[in-house]
Amino acid sequence: MICFTLSANTLDGMSAQVDRYHGCFDMLELRLDLLSQEERDKLLQSAGAPAWLGEAPLILTFRRQSDGGAWNGEDAPRLKYVLSLVESHAASLVREGSSVFIDLEDDVVAIAAGREVAAAAARHGVQIIRSRHDFEGTPDDPAAVIGELASCGGPGEIPKLAVQVRGSRDLVRLIKAADAVRGGADCGTGSGTGSGAGAERSAGRVILVGMGPYGFPSRVLSPRIGSFLSYGSDPGEGRGHVAPGQIDPRSMAEVYRCRTQGPHTEVFGIIGNPVLHSRSPAFHNAEFDRQGRDAVYVPFPTDDIEAFRELMTLLDIRGLSVTIPHKEMVAGWFTSNADKGSSCSPEVSAVGACNTVTRDSGGNLVGANTDVAGFLEPLLRRVPDLHSRGVTVLGAGGAARAVVYGLLSAGARVLVLNRNQDRAALLADEYAHLGQISSGALSPDSLSLMATHNDIIVQTTSVGMAPDVDSDPISFYDFTGTEVLYEIIYAPPKTKLLSRAEDAGCSVIGGEEMFLTQAKLQAQLFAQTANI
Ligand code: ATR
Repeated sequence: MICFTLSANTLDGMSAQVDRYHGCFDMLELRLDLLSQEERDKLLQSAGAPAWLGEAPLILTFRRQSDGGAWNGEDAPRLKYVLSLVESHAASLVREGSSVFIDLEDDVVAIAAGREVAAAAARHGVQIIRSRHDFEGTPDDPAAVIGELASCGGPGEIPKLAVQVRGSRDLVRLIKAADAVRGGADCGTGSGTGSGAGAERSAGRVILVGMGPYGFPSRVLSPRIGSFLSYGSDPGEGRGHVAPGQIDPRSMAEVYRCRTQGPHTEVFGIIGNPVLHSRSPAFHNAEFDRQGRDAVYVPFPTDDIEAFRELMTLLDIRGLSVTIPHKEMVAGWFTSNADKGSSCSPEVSAVGACNTVTRDSGGNLVGANTDVAGFLEPLLRRVPDLHSRGVTVLGAGGAARAVVYGLLSAGARVLVLNRNQDRAALLADEYAHLGQISSGALSPDSLSLMATHNDIIVQTTSVGMAPDVDSDPISFYDFTGTEVLYEIIYAPPKTKLLSRAEDAGCSVIGGEEMFLTQAKLQAQLFAQTANI
């Protein structure tokens, strides 16, 4: 379920948020701490609850600063306010048939005011979410913490654990805990930790939140991992999202289809670092939606590739895109450090980079590199025969490797220019057996070499990429107008170099086309896994 956290500081502002995201949420969370005192008083004094509060099941939350909220006063007035609100509006909403929850931190069971709120909630049919927030990291045994949360209050409370996920290892711990809790709830016998009994007491409902970029997968996979709900918020509310790693409820509903996922939804994803701004999730999720496949594609910011392999098993990940900086390391899964039964396409070994991983019918990993064909196809549409064409490639990094391999395989003559000239020379040496290749510096000294390699110019460096949009890696080169300029950067859609080539009358190819071509090829490989 998607819970939309209302974050405006007035009731009218919150009502406008409800309108803005209408149809994209299953629950609402009213963040009392984000309202001004005046607005809180207004809410309490109003004759009944505003109608929009009854639009969906409602969570009332009055969050302290120490738990990531805005309230920096004493606990007593905070809990007294919640108690009054339960007695007035919450109780009447329940009587009218709505589900109402209050979020109470686990430590307030130790104080009378906290117990009083819980007792009032129980009297009025208001359910309790018993929460704990850890902004330092993920505990060693999150399942045990969930067990503590589930048993510290009354029966039927829903434990909620929100933890800062500091890296891939923390995410593994959190997902394992989700499994353990689910196991306990499903079989009713516990899972060997304290969590099983806790899950039973809460009728299997548990809320797990991984905060921060590394925790993002837990937010968009919540139904898949068995979390009762996942929170989304409105980024347009001045303060931005209310918790680290949140996204808006529309993206949760429409891109990640959080409302239709279930325990059997197949998981695909992209690993990289950073990767949360990748366009691949929008592309592949739309593709799964079009195919009617119960699958979701998630960005996994990854700082530890070995930990990620554990996640692959835990989540039974069916297919992966791989991006910077992991392409070379993942190629190692198929070459230097290959698993028995795994296999890869010749491009992966030749380029030393893998951007796509799928599984065969036996569950073995299969590596591919769709960057090579993704690069070549748009070029071949402009220049069908690359044989003996002179091509200058700017850059000698990971992206250049796939480009140079593709060009040499198609018979082109290649000149590699790089800021670090030794790196260009190494690349040329490594690929010398594949065809005609030379190298030089990315400087005016290479102009005469470029003069014989200027049918096509391919730009693979990061120069000109947002936010560095005013830079041009070959400002020293004047286009004649006959070159084909191929830019692999897609943000911005027109780099300074691409605009300059276009103005000179050159045929140009932007990074968007390569992105889409490689993504479509990847989608075909993912589609093949549907039948196994
Ligand atoms: P990718 O996988 O995207 O190719 P990479 O392997 O880090 O990433 O390579 C980045 C490329 O951009 C390299 O060719 C790099 O040149 P160096 O090898 O000299 O580092 C190039 N690059 C990055 N910043 C640059 C700059 N300011 N000027 C020129 N080239 C630059």
